Order: sequence, then structure tokens, then C-alpha cells
Amino acid sequence: MPINHISFNGLRNLAVTEMAPGPGINLVVGANGSGKTSFLEGIHLLGMGRSFRTRHLKHVIAHDAEAMTLFARLDGDPPLPIGLRRTRDAGELELRLGGERVPRLARLTEALPLQLVNPDAFRLLEGSPAGRREFIDWGVFHVKHDFFDAWRRARRALKHRNALLRHGRIEPDSLLAWERELAHWGERLDALRRDWMAAFQPVFEATLAALLPLPELELRYSRGWDRQRDLQTVLAQGRETDRQMGFTQQGPQRADLRIRLGRHPAVEVLSRGQQKLVVSALKLAQGRLLERVTGRTCLYLVDDLPAELDADHRQVFCRLLETMGCQAFITSVEHDALVGSWSSHAPLTMFHVEPSPSGQGRLVPAGHAQTS
Ligand SMILES: Nc1ncnc2c1ncn2[C@@H]1O[C@H](COP(=O)(O)OP(=O)(O)OP(=O)(O)O)[C@@H](O)[C@H]1O
Ligand SMILES: [Mg+2]
Repeated sequence: MPINHISFNGLRNLAVTEMAPGPGINLVVGANGSGKTSFLEGIHLLGMGRSFRTRHLKHVIAHDAEAMTLFARLDGDPPLPIGLRRTRDAGELELRLGGERVPRLARLTEALPLQLVNPDAFRLLEGSPAGRREFIDWGVFHVKHDFFDAWRRARRALKHRNALLRHGRIEPDSLLAWERELAHWGERLDALRRDWMAAFQPVFEATLAALLPLPELELRYSRGWDRQRDLQTVLAQGRETDRQMGFTQQGPQRADLRIRLGRHPAVEVLSRGQQKLVVSALKLAQGRLLERVTGRTCLYLVDDLPAELDADHRQVFCRLLETMGCQAFITSVEHDALVGSWSSHAPLTMFHVEPSPSGQGRLVPAGHAQTS
């Protein structure tokens, strides 16, 4: 369901924003510092409950505002309003879906599946396993209904086991009970992630082949514990060293997606542009698989499209996105780099972010953009 109305208030430097995006590709052009990334950040917050720029949401609230209120209406019958509010003082996130307050971010994530491609995209390859685990789990969450429950139960069991390990004075019954729980839900998580990987792999390979032929590139899922033993045994046999370390060393919380090119980690041999294309292929493949399995499309946020991509690769990326029929919000400082990469019948809607002397950015529609 595409977004057909956006209302942002108190978001970084943006003036109160009311806009009606198009259902297809929305291009957002503006000078450095005008507020383009902030605008994408607002949409990202609605779908993911967190920023891609900071861990502290108070920094996202406009300096002169007491609160930030973000709202979007998803097109549908009936339309689905989603909203998020954060005050500077209380620090609590208020989440709304369909006019009602909801307790969990997962409800918003479920309503607004989105993927971000930005100049930091290479971090997915370079950074810690946590980002790649989150990437896998986003996919599993959207296509496997029992994922969230299994994930929550495994996380809770892990928290309790870690607390007992740190406690020093081991309570054997409690520890065994949480261990059994962790083993059970951890194995379940692994099975769901493996199933998802099996479906994801061919979609990724086809997407990558279209963007950047790298036949040697290989994705390998690693589940987070020894391949030869079940999790229950791993936890039992690791109890003593886990106690010395003060945490559980193996389990679904250590799962990763290894990305290799032949014998090397991909990040060690690919150029920045190639890394961005591999990450783009991963993210586009997420949306394609989501569509294939659930019939739902994924929203794409692409910040600074031209960064690291030459004109040819930019065009292949844009054409792929276009064929997916997704709603997208794409920014650039440069008008021509943004507009010239699409087919003549692409569903483009153009916006400008106009800076005011006070530093506020104002998002204004620019009619339908001309394609090359
Ligand atoms: N909490 C805040 N309140 C007010 N202004 C802020 C806040 N946080 C950041 N800014 C300002 O918002 C402006 C817009 O930043 P943003 O990153 O969105 O710009 P941009 O259009 O993406 O620029 P670029 O093309 O350089 O990437 C910056 O000038 C920044 O100083
Ligand atoms: Mg920016």
C-alpha cells in the first residue's frame, strides 16, 4: 500500500510538511543541507521506529520544537493511517495505527515494509553481524507469520540465561529451564531463517546478475552455533565458559550472513561502487521476494542516488526499481542525475526542498518531472 499523504511536524530542519506523494517514483531534489535526508528519515522512522542516522531520537526533534509528530496515510480500502510521536521531555514513543495506540513497533513495521539504500549502504557488508542479522530478520518477519513470536521468546530466554550466568550463584533449575526455552526457540528461528534463505538466494542471484555480474559472489547463512551439534547440547557444553565470560557465546543471537567473493570476504575486494551495487541487489531482492510471497510491495528510500554510481549503473538500478512497481522516495542534489535514469513512461513525481534564510527546508511539489 503506497503512502498517499504525509504530514511531518517538528522533524529536524523541515518546516511543517504536508505532501501528497505519487504512488510510483518520488524524486526529491534540494541543495546540501536543505532537508532531503531528514525527509527520508521521517518515513524510515514510521516504518522502522528508529532513525538510520542516530540512536537518540531526541536529536531528530527540531531544535526549537518540543515534540515531533510524524504521520502517513497508506492508500487502501479503507486507508490506513500510521503515526508516531516523540516528545523531548517524556522520551516515550507514541505509536498509532488505524487511529488506535499500539504498543509495539512491529505493528508499524508490518504495515509499512521499507528498505533504505543510502551512501552508508556498504556498512551492511563491512559492519558488524547485527546489521546483516537484522536484514535477514526483516525478510523472515515479513514472510513468516510465526517469526516474531519465536524471535521474542528466544530473546527473552537469552536475557534470562545471561542474567543468571552473571549472577554468580547459579540456580540450576532456572538456568536449565531458560536453556531449554532458548534451545527450542533458537532452533525454530534457525529453521525459519534457513527457509527464508533458500527462497531469497535465487532472487538475489537474479537481481545481482542484472545489476552487476559477479558470478563468484556467494551468500552463506551461518546460524550462530556449531553446525554439528544441536543448540541444547551447545548450551549445556558451553555453560562453564559462558559463565566465565558472563554471556551466552553461541546461539541465534550470533547468526550472520557471510558475503564472499571466491575465497575472499566481499568487502575486502570490491570497490565502494561495487559494494553499493551488491547491497542494492540485496535490498531490491528483499522487495522482490516480499512481493512474490505476499503480493505486497516494499517501499524504497534511496538517499543520494548518484553517490558512488556511474550513469550506466544508476540507470540499471532505476530500471529495476521501476519494473518492481514499488513506491520510492529518491533524493539527489542534482536534478539531471536523478531524472535522466528512468524510462519515458516511469511514474515520476517531482519535489523540491527549498531552503529558507532561517535554515528551514520546505518540501514543494514541482509537477510531473520531464524524463530524458
Ligand atoms: N534537530 C534538528 N533541528 C533543526 N535542524 C537540524 C536538526 N538536525 C539537523 N538539522 C539541520 O538540518 C539540515 C538538513 O539536513 P539534511 O541532512 O536533511 O540535509 P540534506 O538535504 O540531506 O543535505 P545533503 O545534500 O548535504 O545530504 C542541516 O542543515 C542540519 O544542520
Ligand atoms: Mg543528505
